Order: sequence, then structure tokens, then C-alpha cells
Amino acid sequence: MSKKLTVSSIKKSKGVKPLVMITAYDALFARLLEPSADMILVGDSLNMSFAGCSDTISATLEQMIYHTNAVCKGASSSFIICDMPFGTYTDIDKALKNAIQVFQETQADCIKIEGGADKAHIIKHLTDNSIAVCGHIGLLPQSVRSEGGYKVKGKTAQEKETLMQDAKAIEAAGAFCMVIEGTKADVAKEIAQSVSIPVIGIGAGAEVDGQVLVFSDMLGLFEEFTPKFVKKYLNGADLVKGALQEYADEVVAGTFPNEEHTY
Ligand code: KIV
Repeated sequence: MSKKLTVSSIKKSKGVKPLVMITAYDALFARLLEPSADMILVGDSLNMSFAGCSDTISATLEQMIYHTNAVCKGASSSFIICDMPFGTYTDIDKALKNAIQVFQETQADCIKIEGGADKAHIIKHLTDNSIAVCGHIGLLPQSVRSEGGYKVKGKTAQEKETLMQDAKAIEAAGAFCMVIEGTKADVAKEIAQSVSIPVIGIGAGAEVDGQVLVFSDMLGLFEEFTPKFVKKYLNGADLVKGALQEYADEVVAGTFPNEEHTY
């Protein structure tokens, strides 16, 4: 994929072509992922797969800015989304101040915030001030402690109605696209059909406007746990461990470095 997408081309892609989103946290992987992805998300999931924490809650704005800068350097022709970490958008002033910091200190094209109708006033304030916003509804990882775990959404008529209101509120507030996570596929499908902006699914079935996966999950590098919705396209952990064992064995056997790798 050659031409960098924009907020407007992403909006126009709805109904034309499914969008491919993937996370990245550093320049090395961003460069590898760039040719296959429409959008790269610097997700606060980095707090788990990169920093080894048990959830995303302790990620900081400074960390997100650091990683977003690395990703922007590695994938300069990609549309890049910086996830706003927990606690950085609790009111409109704080959200705008922090989003401005992200825009001034990185080349991110937009920010992402979690929440539905309850965050619509914040999204409106950000978009009114020239900050492009990707919403995030359904299962919200930043609410995992308050909700007591990762709970799939859309299982009841009430939850479905709430999600529908969330999606419409986010759209009305000016978000140009949204992620829907951990939601029953039939509900996600209906939501995608009910709004005019792209709805990108993760654990939300196939009938939405695109998909996002965490790169370390889909490459099989993250071994702690594998959610049902993750397909491993590579046995990354086994490949890495195999290569490292080969290296270790050769060092011990004295066969590395050989003449080819010696000055
Ligand atoms: O932080 C992240 O990687 C995300 C995805 C799960 C969408 O928000």
C-alpha cells in the first residue's frame, strides 16, 4: 500500500474496501508492518506486551509519545493513531491539553480514546480544536479493573442498545472512525450498518468495516494468553526461541563466529 491515508480517505473507504489496522510500538516492527497496513495503532496494549504489565492502566502519556515517535520514524508513510492512556482525558481541558501535546511532540495523525456516549463531549471538544479522533467502544481495556475482567459486550438487549447509542454519539461528536472491541458479531454488524464512519473490529466478527489486531498476538510472540479472537499468523515465539537456541548452541560449540563472520 503506497499512498498515505487521510482522515477523509479513511471515511470514504467505508463500504468500498475493508481497512487493515495493526498495532506497532517501535520503528523496527512499524517498518515491517507498514506495507500491509492502512493504519498503524500505537496502542496502550504496549503496556502489556512490551512493558510486561498485567493491564493497560499504568501506561503514561510520555510512554505513548515515546513509542509513537518511534513508530512514526519507522512508518513515515502510514496513517498513525496514538492511543490516549488511562486518566489523560477525564475532562475536556485535560483531554485537549494532552492531545495537543501528542500532536506537537509526534507526527501522529489522530488520537484514540475509549468510551461511548459518556465521552462524546470530550470527542466534540477535541474535534472542534482540530484533533482527529478515533473512538473505541465495546470492551474497554482501560475499564477492565473497574469491571472486574474482560467481558464480551452486546450479550443482552440492553447492552446492544447502549452500544448503539455509544456509536451514534461518537459519530455525532465528530469521530472519523471507531474501534469496536470484544462485542457479539451480530451487534457489531448492526452498529457498522447504522453509522456512516468506518467501524474497525477486534473480537467483533467479520461484518464490520475493517479489522485490528495486536501485532505481537497475531505473530505469536505474546505467550501469556491468547484471546479467542486472535489468529496466530506466525509461530513467532517458537521461531525466535529456536533461532536463539541455535545461536547459543553454536557459541558453546565454538562454531560461531566462523570465518564468514570474522574480520
Ligand atoms: O491498545 C490497543 O492495542 C488497542 C487495540 C486492542 C484496539 O486499543
